Amino acid sequence: MKSVSRRQFLKKATQAGMAVAAGAAANRFAIAQGRTTTRVVIDSERQIATIDHNLFGSFLEQLGRAIYEGIYEPGSKFADSNGFRTDVMREIRDLGVPIIRWPGGNFVSGYHWLDGVGPKNKRPAVLDKAWDTLETNQFGTDEFITWAHTVGTEPLFGLNFGTGTAEDAAALVEYCNVAKGTKWSELRRTNGYDQPHNVKYWCVGNEMDGPWQIGHMPASEYGLKATDAARQMRAIDPTIKLIACGSSGPFMPTYIEWDRTVLEECYDLVDGISLHHYWGNTEETGGNSQVYMAMNLAMDRQIQEIAAVCDTVRAQKRSGKELFLSFDEWNVWYRARGGDFADGHGKAAPHLLEEPYNLEDALLVGGLANSLIRHSNRVKVACLAQLVNVIAPIATNDDGILRHTIYYPYAWALKYARGRALSIEPEGPGYEVATLGVPIERGGLPLPGFGQVGYVDVTATLDTEAKTTTLFLFNRDLERPQDVEIVWHDLTPTGVHTFMTMTGADLKAGNTFADPKRVTPQTLENPKVGARMTLQLPARSYSVLSLAL
Ligand code: AHR
Repeated sequence: MKSVSRRQFLKKATQAGMAVAAGAAANRFAIAQGRTTTRVVIDSERQIATIDHNLFGSFLEQLGRAIYEGIYEPGSKFADSNGFRTDVMREIRDLGVPIIRWPGGNFVSGYHWLDGVGPKNKRPAVLDKAWDTLETNQFGTDEFITWAHTVGTEPLFGLNFGTGTAEDAAALVEYCNVAKGTKWSELRRTNGYDQPHNVKYWCVGNEMDGPWQIGHMPASEYGLKATDAARQMRAIDPTIKLIACGSSGPFMPTYIEWDRTVLEECYDLVDGISLHHYWGNTEETGGNSQVYMAMNLAMDRQIQEIAAVCDTVRAQKRSGKELFLSFDEWNVWYRARGGDFADGHGKAAPHLLEEPYNLEDALLVGGLANSLIRHSNRVKVACLAQLVNVIAPIATNDDGILRHTIYYPYAWALKYARGRALSIEPEGPGYEVATLGVPIERGGLPLPGFGQVGYVDVTATLDTEAKTTTLFLFNRDLERPQDVEIVWHDLTPTGVHTFMTMTGADLKAGNTFADPKRVTPQTLENPKVGARMTLQLPARSYSVLSLAL
């Protein structure tokens, strides 16, 4: 597609609303001419997949105040005997976050895990070069595992592929997963952890395609190193799941090419590949919120594109194995980036990447959750990046916790996206998003537009055990409520568990410690249940409707 400058884009977007459709639609939505209602037919037999337990995981990086002052703060009035903040632990346990990626991110590419184990008073303080921050190493592998057990989450470990060797990676697997009797397992036992940590999921490096990454390397070199590391790691523990480091996102000039080359080298040795993407109402959308509301379609498209690369390499190799996708960094992030937002100036626990979130960000995060649900056949792990303080739904201060706007759609996905995802193809009114601007992110390339975009984006889940079906409804229309008609093909709901929405008059409103409840969910009036149901979704809203069967 011809690239469009930011000026050209802004002109088009303001003069003509949205320009004429050009881009490939990743959009399973039919625009029905003249229709004012979105119609959804739900057939319980049309199932996409069982939603993986790990679809709504998260991420904690040794960065800014995510760990220090976020989850670990021995001086806090909330600290337990381990120094863990009990208020944050309660919040994360209650959310039910299934899997958490740690310790990075960019941080991991310079991290020596040995610095973070053993007696705390012997651990070195080092300069983390990714974020120019003092890393005290008071929180390391064993603390993370202890914390993860306490909050009831599974660890997803990142490996240092920047300054670390394949041998270092295998040594960490041995430290974590071998019961006893070897050099590294005995070190763990000496450190007071008799039982193995049994870490199952491993990210084989982080964003190694990015020139910003410590140890950045060409794709083929990475693929060879990943192959070598995977072999050594699997020799230690054949049951582990390995996630190859995929492209940092579609803005990269090497997008797709990186993934293909990497997989040509290491396809047989890995189980999945990573995808990353951060969205923002910025250059890409021209600051136009109506365009911003369509950006979850970029996630649909990215998933489809990376799945296609995996399958192409699979076919080339005549392999019987299908790789899963690990969307292990996704979120809104565009304000607190670069400059002092990303530079700790050599201090410990600096305020980095503390993105403030508003209503429109929460709506998009809801839309992104919809995109993950409808691709749950292929995406088996995904991590909202991140969890506490750093680009996060939860913020801390000395007195407690703040829930940012994006907390709520994430909490709904965790609570209600259970069972099987249903395949639905809504029909209704929409608008056009033909072009997108050039993302400034690391000098990236522009994405094509989406063509016709439905005002209402819907996904549905069916939990037969709990006799519940849930609809996640995103009304992108910023001006008007939208009517939805639901036709149940073979199910008849008998009652409403919950019908809640995130909406409001001010798209830019957010929550702060001074005003923590400015944007929170509102309860909607229960619809009449039956084989045919009608709903009205408020303008600019993301709603969850959970029904008893
Ligand atoms: O999540 C913040 C950073 O974004 C991570 O460290 C890196 O992997 C990505 O670029």
